[in-house]
Amino acid sequence: MEIINRRQRMNSVSRKVRRELDQTMGLVPTMGALHEGHLSLVREARRMCDIVIVSVFVNPAQFGPQEDFTRYPRDLTKDTMALSDYSVDYIFAPPVEEMYPKNFSTYVTVEGLSEQLEGAARPGHFRGVATVLTVLFNIVRPDFAFFGQKDAQQTIVVRRLVRDLACDTEIVVLPTVREESGLALSSRNAYLDKDERRAASVIYRALEHAEAAFLSGERNAKKIAEAVRVQIEAEPRARLEYVGVNDAETLDKLERLDDRPAIVSVAAYFGKTRLIDNIILNRVRSGATGRLA
Ligand code: PAF
Repeated sequence: MEIINRRQRMNSVSRKVRRELDQTMGLVPTMGALHEGHLSLVREARRMCDIVIVSVFVNPAQFGPQEDFTRYPRDLTKDTMALSDYSVDYIFAPPVEEMYPKNFSTYVTVEGLSEQLEGAARPGHFRGVATVLTVLFNIVRPDFAFFGQKDAQQTIVVRRLVRDLACDTEIVVLPTVREESGLALSSRNAYLDKDERRAASVIYRALEHAEAAFLSGERNAKKIAEAVRVQIEAEPRARLEYVGVNDAETLDKLERLDDRPAIVSVAAYFGKTRLIDNIILNRVRSGATGRLA
């Protein structure tokens, strides 16, 4: 496993893999602080691709001025150790100036999908995500890139990005990995104290409640959102930011659910920690729940 810090080196390695070795490349883009959710992406990349690259880059462009960019957990040694069991070929861990050279002035905005839900709560967030992913895709030129369903809006934005900009990369989305309590794994869970962590499992219970309501025939989006809101607000340690019920492809806000997949998404604070999660309704299930035993 080689750790690469320079975009030029990464670029020449990937050119060689593509042209001379004719091998397939999978990229798992991360901000580090790797957990089982990331590792499930790495395992799938390993299964599908000849060469696996994990990028580790805490992207300043996707954090707002009051957000946790400076305190976001960073430990490349620990991340490297976590990856050592997975036969990863390269870790791409560039410093900021490699990704954003002096006078960097080109940003990518995926219009219509970046302004609602997380985009409304975190203005500029998806511009930062779309920009860094475009730079990464151009440096690595992966055949496949792997993302977790937990960041549902991100997966929708990146799918549109690669389609619109004709990137030669297929996006693979894998189920959210959860603790036994249902809490979705997230690098930000590290900020939670014991009580907050216990309390945070309310999010998934509330989403399951929404699914149960849907399965028993509820089609009114407001009522589904209300059921989630009531359940989360009953947890004293939770401060709900939003519940959304949206079309799972266009992210249009829904009044009624029909036969198209819909996404119920939540953002909530537990203490100072902001967590997000979601569930897709009306989708044929793969069977895998992604829950840790
Ligand atoms: O999901 C993340 O960790 C980040 O948004 C990503 C995709 C690595 C881009 O910085």
